[in-house]
Amino acid sequence: MSNNNMASRDKLPDSPATISLQCIRCSKVYPAGEIRYLCDCGGLLDVWHDLEALRPQINRGLFDGRLSGAPGPHVAPTSNSGVWRYREIILPATVNTIISRPEGNTPLYEHNRISDWVKAKNFYLKHEGENPTGSFKDRGMTVGITQAKLMGAKAVACASTGNTSASLAAYAAQAGIPAFIFIPSGKIAAGKLAQALAYGAHTLQIEGDFDDAMRLVREVCNQMSVYLLNSLNPFRLEGQKSIVFEILQGFAWNPPDWIVLPAGNLGNTAAFGKALYEAHQLGLIDRIPRIAAVQAEGASPFYQSYQTNFAERITMKASTVATAIRIGSPVSYERAIRTLEWTDGIVTSVTDEEIMNAKAIVDGAGIGCEPASAASVAGTRKLIAAGDIKPEETIVSILTGNLLKDPTTTVDYHTGHWPNAQYANSPVQIESDIEAVRKVIEQRL
Ligand code: F0G
Repeated sequence: MSNNNMASRDKLPDSPATISLQCIRCSKVYPAGEIRYLCDCGGLLDVWHDLEALRPQINRGLFDGRLSGAPGPHVAPTSNSGVWRYREIILPATVNTIISRPEGNTPLYEHNRISDWVKAKNFYLKHEGENPTGSFKDRGMTVGITQAKLMGAKAVACASTGNTSASLAAYAAQAGIPAFIFIPSGKIAAGKLAQALAYGAHTLQIEGDFDDAMRLVREVCNQMSVYLLNSLNPFRLEGQKSIVFEILQGFAWNPPDWIVLPAGNLGNTAAFGKALYEAHQLGLIDRIPRIAAVQAEGASPFYQSYQTNFAERITMKASTVATAIRIGSPVSYERAIRTLEWTDGIVTSVTDEEIMNAKAIVDGAGIGCEPASAASVAGTRKLIAAGDIKPEETIVSILTGNLLKDPTTTVDYHTGHWPNAQYANSPVQIESDIEAVRKVIEQRL
């Protein structure tokens, strides 16, 4: 699958041979500078770091010393990036080749009303929707686009349920590389489509679902001189590992008990497991937190496979209000199973109704998120009720996307389009008259 039209090199210019590509199935190793998304055996690839070589270079103090101050005209964006702070274990690239907004450094929220609702005592929300384009994808995309630039890519592409395409469009525009995005027609949220168009991506609306778009983009990237930036590309996942590194650093390297996240294509689930494995191997943490991956019931192939103990790889025609995770055949399936093994992880699923009510709780606290993100909060509540997570354990749930991504679904929830919208906040229609206004305020107070 290597592509001779693109510049390829044995190793990155400033990489001291500490990275390569390795098949997660048969362990075959390829140079990091080869354009390749799968092993010859069909297995998924990892960016493999030489942890032995890195161990003497890496410690908590190195990363703590890089926590930086205010952005300024002469401050390299990398100094303020919550991704590139950890560059040795992500992608050793020189500062002037890096394309960064900068991303990361996202807030960790604690809110009594949300904690009470999930019935947890130590509950935190890591808000990845507060990244530059409004989702966690920016953490992977800064690395993916930087790698594309290093490889001399003429064009980049991805299939997407919306957030990856918004992020790719923005970072490709910053790098000056043409971007082709493949999206399921009519199935992505308005905010995400608006971003792709506004950032200037060539937008192909496929008459099919995400899984169809994914198949097409893989084919075209193999045939043409276009660099694939889905999470099939292992460099994307390297960037997404920084969510975990940032959580660990935020907890002064005393890990929480659980990290709960929504799961669709399983890229993030894969990245989280790898990050925890490496952090443990490098001595940054003494204990590995457990991962809980949450799927939407109508798009739960991984959960259903988990229930068979992975004896069977289940795929399905996906359907859920959480369009970001409307995926029936997740690409990082094998990598995600490995995450469960490394972290003693678990998987669950939640209904659309549970997702929307959880979202209303997060939104109503003034924090806000898009529907898919709320799956992690609904899932946490469900896992505590089932006794899988203990109420006193420390839990970090990931909010993956911003409230503004999907205004239509939010307005629908609050305006009577959902039968069991427990927390609907309907607008009041009144005449343009001061007495009518006074009446509403008196009633509400
Ligand atoms: N949450 C949001 C907001 C997402 O956009 C996605 C994935 C996920 C969760 C699931 O993450 O795929 O790594 O398991 N969005 C992809 C996209 C598929 O195209 O934007 P995953």
